[in-house]
Amino acid sequence: MDAKLAYWTAAALNMALLMGFAASGVRRVQNGQVARHRRRMLTAVALVLAFVLSYTIKLAALGREDLSVWSDAAVWTLRFHELCVFTMLISGGLALRRGLALARTQALMEDPDAPQALPKDLKGHGRAGKVAVLAAGLGFLSACAVLASMYGRALS
Ligand code: HEM
Repeated sequence: MDAKLAYWTAAALNMALLMGFAASGVRRVQNGQVARHRRRMLTAVALVLAFVLSYTIKLAALGREDLSVWSDAAVWTLRFHELCVFTMLISGGLALRRGLALARTQALMEDPDAPQALPKDLKGHGRAGKVAVLAAGLGFLSACAVLASMYGRALS
C-alpha cells in the first residue's frame, strides 16, 4: 500500500479511537463521574496531540498530497474537514484550559477547602467542550469521506 494512504488510514483509526474516548467522557460527566470524564477527555486530547505531531513528521517525510488529481468534490470535502479540525483544536483548547482550572475546584476535588466552581465557568467549559466534540464528530465523518476518495483513486 502507498505510504501516504497507509498514514491516512492510521490517522482515521486514531480519530475513531479519540471519538470513542470523547463520547464516553461526555457520558461519564452526564452521570456525575467527573474524574472519569477528566481521564477520558485527557486521553482524547493526547490522541489529538499525537496526530498533530505525526502530521508534522508526515509532511517532512512524505510531503503534501497532490490535489491537482482530486475531483472538486473531494477537494471541498477536504476543506470542510480541515475547518472541522481547526474548530476542534480551538474549542478543544478552550475546553481544556477551563477544564484544568475546574480540576482545582470542588467540581473535581473532595477537599472542602477547595474553591467552589463558578456556574459561569462550568457553563463556559461545557459549551466549548460540546462545540469541540461536535466538530470532532463532523471532522471524523468528513475524514472517512476523504479517505474513501483516496482509496477510490488508488484502486482506479
Ligand atoms: C481537564 C480536565 C477536565 C475537567 C476537570 C472537566 C470537568 C467538567 C465538568 C465539572 C463538567 C460539568 C459542567 C456542568 O456542570 O455544566 C464538564 C462538562 C463537559 N466537559 Fe469537561 N472537564 C475536563 C476536560 C474536558 C475536555 C478536554 C473536553 C473536550 C475537549 C471536555 C468536554 C466537556 C463537555 C462536552 C461537557 C458537557 C457535557 C454535557 O453537558 O453534556 N471536558 N467537564
